[in-house]
Amino acid sequence: MIQKIVVVGAGTMGHGIAEVAAISGFKVGVIDIAWEFLNRAKERITDSLNRLYEKGQLKERPEDVLSRIEFNISYEIARDADFAIEAVPENLELKKKVFKTLDEIAPKHAILATNTSSIPISDIAEATSRKEKVIGMHFFNPPVIMKLVEIIPSKYTSEDVVNLTVDLAKKMNKIPVRLRYEIPGFISNRIFIRLLQEACREVESGEGTIEEVDSAARNKLKLPMGLFELADYVGLDVIVDIWNVLVSRGTLDVKCSLFKNKVNEKNLGVKSGKGFYTYPSPGKYTKVQLPAESKIDPARLISLAVNESSWMIENKIVEAKDIDTVMIYGFNFPKGLLEIADELGLDVIYNYLKEIYNRGYEAYKPTALLEKMVKEGKIGKKSGEGFYKY
Ligand code: CAA
Repeated sequence: MIQKIVVVGAGTMGHGIAEVAAISGFKVGVIDIAWEFLNRAKERITDSLNRLYEKGQLKERPEDVLSRIEFNISYEIARDADFAIEAVPENLELKKKVFKTLDEIAPKHAILATNTSSIPISDIAEATSRKEKVIGMHFFNPPVIMKLVEIIPSKYTSEDVVNLTVDLAKKMNKIPVRLRYEIPGFISNRIFIRLLQEACREVESGEGTIEEVDSAARNKLKLPMGLFELADYVGLDVIVDIWNVLVSRGTLDVKCSLFKNKVNEKNLGVKSGKGFYTYPSPGKYTKVQLPAESKIDPARLISLAVNESSWMIENKIVEAKDIDTVMIYGFNFPKGLLEIADELGLDVIYNYLKEIYNRGYEAYKPTALLEKMVKEGKIGKKSGEGFYKY
């Protein structure tokens, strides 16, 4: 039975994961390399718990939840852990070091999970002597609000460990989506990066401004944030890391340098106070102001992400409803991406893909599945069938 969870890394994701675990009644240990980071994490958790408490969304008093969390720069607090979740920066060597240490200190039965969004779980598992007990457990920012957790078994993970992790996610009041096997970027980031790549391409090729693209995302697609705004929120360094990993592991690239340029300028988004937009101070997010009108077509904006989705469905990695669950609960979409695609028309999306592909963008080549659907007249809601039946 899982009683104590340790979280390694007290940054944006780590502090939020620790908070969720404590709210759910677990004993929690948080480990980082310096007290400065741990104190900051404690402040952020306290603020967040107070906000939830004031709205009546917390059953206990914030101080009671906090009393279950211990902070330390020593891994000794992992000695009685049943489950560990690593949330340190996306660097394989660093993660291997963390896993090697956890493997030495945590009890033999403990499961070691990683919140990585881009590094192969199997590579991390190889740093331990318990490869079958290492798994991906991917949370979304902010963890205390976002319901989704992707569960990713590596090629070594045992079925028991997968089931225990799915169970734990449910106990943490989350909605787990289990991948059958690991693919680079999992479901979430394959789709997310495709959305960002098309957004980037549209801006770089002069089809619209950053603000117009974001206005279309927020006002036409009804997403909670614009796409560039969300990238700022997640961290532009994180975005570029994921983008690079996808490309290095075989995903066709879309040449576009807006994101890389920002990172080279050290403008990393909300965390540094400036990215595509400017924020009140480093780490402080406020909603960005966007124009009400935009010439950007939402069907074009989602076209590449829909093509990526159809690739995953064609390859039997997931079903349409899994993709929609990920987008609704991991990104707070008002409805699923493929439900939106069906409404906007798969013929419209297909034509956009072909047009952009014909201009030399290889990644936009419509998949065989999408082509077949359009040829058979399954073009979405208006025809009675698309990704779903109506
Ligand atoms: N703790 C407690 N409450 C919080 C909070 C936190 N950390 N963050 C936000 N909230 C609460 C606010 O207090 C507010 O509550 P009320 O509505 O009751 O006042 C509510 O959430 C909404 O917050 P805001 O008013 O500040 O702003 P908002 O309406 O824009 O909502 C948001 C913020 C929930 C983050 C929303 O914009 C959203 O859903 N954005 C999309 C987030 C997303 O897509 N995340 C996934 C990114 S991808 C990822 O993480 C994975 C990866 O690998 C890259």
